[in-house]
Amino acid sequence: MRVLVTGGAGFIGSNFVHQTVRERPEVRVTVLDALTYAGDRESLAPVADKVTLVEGSITDAALVDSLVADSDLVVHFAAESHNDNSLNDPSPFVQTNLIGTFTLLEAVRKHGVRFHHISTDEVYGDLELDDPAKFTPDTPYNPSSPYSSTKAGSDLLVRAWVRSFGVQATISNCSNNYGPYQHIEKFIPRQITNLIDGVRPKLYGAGENVRDWIHVEDHNSAVWAIIERGRIGETYLIGADGEKNNLEVVETLLEIFGLAKDDFEHVKDRPGHDLRYAIDATKLRDELGWTPKYTDFESGLRATVDWYKANEAWWRPAKQATEAKYAAQGQ
Ligand SMILES: NC(=O)c1ccc[n+]([C@@H]2O[C@H](COP(=O)([O-])OP(=O)(O)OC[C@H]3O[C@@H](n4cnc5c(N)ncnc54)[C@H](O)[C@@H]3O)[C@@H](O)[C@H]2O)c1
Repeated sequence: MRVLVTGGAGFIGSNFVHQTVRERPEVRVTVLDALTYAGDRESLAPVADKVTLVEGSITDAALVDSLVADSDLVVHFAAESHNDNSLNDPSPFVQTNLIGTFTLLEAVRKHGVRFHHISTDEVYGDLELDDPAKFTPDTPYNPSSPYSSTKAGSDLLVRAWVRSFGVQATISNCSNNYGPYQHIEKFIPRQITNLIDGVRPKLYGAGENVRDWIHVEDHNSAVWAIIERGRIGETYLIGADGEKNNLEVVETLLEIFGLAKDDFEHVKDRPGHDLRYAIDATKLRDELGWTPKYTDFESGLRATVDWYKANEAWWRPAKQATEAKYAAQGQ
């Protein structure tokens, strides 16, 4: 099987490639990645001899067409993925998330190639902190930011290409991921690398915002379950019942580092910050028989801390510039 992985040099995509090479030796992997600030060739270094990395954009129709023509399956991770960046400059989000997805859809339509679209639970907007509800595949779309609205738009394009043109596609909307190879601009790796540097963690506002954390390995095992057993045209929500508020995450990290639970700083909250996300993954569990492996958040987080401690050479080059960007925003 020939698989084209877009965004395979990013956080979730590179973990998907590692997992695929490890568990499915019959699969031939090609990665298409623009190597933006979020993509890193080094994230694929351990599997470099088993994977072909093509540097280019998913908005390049000729390149996409030639790569898709040579594939049996496209797994589409490539995206501009950071909410904060989308508030400063939405334009690359529109280009990559909307035009890039459109470009891929036209190629899979032409060549009759199976497509799996990776998306986020942020398309559903947010829930009140005291609301017992969770997102289901029937929850109406209500995105808040340029990031989540362009992801919502890309999901709708996929649905329309299935309905209008018979494209063989599935969609997954996953909750917040953590694990190795995540860019240090993101909440958990930013706090971990600050703690390694002896800098106090930074908490947006009061830290009440709730995220439904899932280990990246569990996200990717669910993606393979959908590719192999999912029904064409369906949307599956991926989550592992990992609801934690940001304060709890920071306190757990401080505990792992052997520090006092209140040894952190508050920083200015971001505008429009979604309150709570929570996933009901019943359809994925019941229909496809998927179960997560990382059910204990603290031990998953401990393993992630160990990874960042052992792989400083991977994250150190981006640290200064990332912190300078946050400092300019008072965060
Ligand atoms: N991180 C999360 O918690 C999370 C949760 C749910 C869904 N998702 C979705 O999963 C996917 C991957 O997210 P991530 O956290 O790994 O993101 P990431 O920012 O770490 O990686 C994105 C990758 O896409 C590449 N890319 C960006 N623009 C491109 C373009 N025009 N052409 C080709 N490649 C391009 C980047 O170079 C990078 O390697 C995204 O679609 C995101 O919306 C992420």
